[in-house]
Amino acid sequence: MQLFKRKPKNHGVDADRKLPVHIAVIMDGNGRWAARRGLPRKAGHREGANTLKRLVKECNAIGIKYLTAYAFSTENWNRPREEVDALMDLLLEFLRNAEKELAGTNIRILVIGDTGRLSDEIQKEIERVVVNTSVNTGLNLVIALNYGSRCEIVSAAARIARDARDGRIDPEKVDERLFSSYLYTREIPDPDLVIRPSGEYRLSNFLLWQSSYSEFWFSDVLWPDFTKEHLYQAIRDFQNRNRRFGGLQR
Ligand code: IPE
Ligand code: IPE
Ligand code: MG
Repeated sequence: MQLFKRKPKNHGVDADRKLPVHIAVIMDGNGRWAARRGLPRKAGHREGANTLKRLVKECNAIGIKYLTAYAFSTENWNRPREEVDALMDLLLEFLRNAEKELAGTNIRILVIGDTGRLSDEIQKEIERVVVNTSVNTGLNLVIALNYGSRCEIVSAAARIARDARDGRIDPEKVDERLFSSYLYTREIPDPDLVIRPSGEYRLSNFLLWQSSYSEFWFSDVLWPDFTKEHLYQAIRDFQNRNRRFGGLQR
């Protein structure tokens, strides 16, 4: 019988300081990773999916409650058909194998984005995985699929306008809390830490509303090369930041 559960190594993370509750990652750089190796872009996407699987387990093990992964943006449809198809195939594979891969991890999967534009096959898999993992109490893995913040905000505004017109809500009562409840992320806390690798310094239409007071962490590393050491570096840096939320230093 094992008397003591082995403690995960803390990698220099300060146990007395708060861990981010919610980490969001923009999984960027797959194409460049493949190009540098003379491989097709889809090989980079496959490697990127493997990075996500490793990171999910790591985050779950250390007690992160939410990990949001930007997997496909509303603008990624502008890529060549072949690449979009490859990304959709990978996505389907990821969803089909999700429970097997994450067996015993207690991870719950959620999806944000305009999923209605995805194939029926993918929509069915999303529904299945979300329902099957809904009772899990470990890490919430939030996959952003056909996600775009502008689309999310406009759709919220349109539904609020309709509900006001139809008398379901009082226009005088529209405030930040009500607005948030119309977003895809209504049951998800705002991200504490947003990570963007690949040397780009932009949000690319990701969580614009929700990241108003997030801490940002950028790195030149390409997503397929992103390791748990990068994750721990980002968390250590986060722990040394001073979040003031417009107030004074505490
Ligand atoms: C991110 O990697 C994956 C998706 C957008 C789905 P990219 O495909 O954007 O890789 P780069 O930026 O071209 O290297
Ligand atoms: C952001 O990466 C979207 C995802 C990682 C899913 P992009 O590669 O699409 O972003 P841009 O075009 O460089 O801004
Ligand atoms: Mg990119």
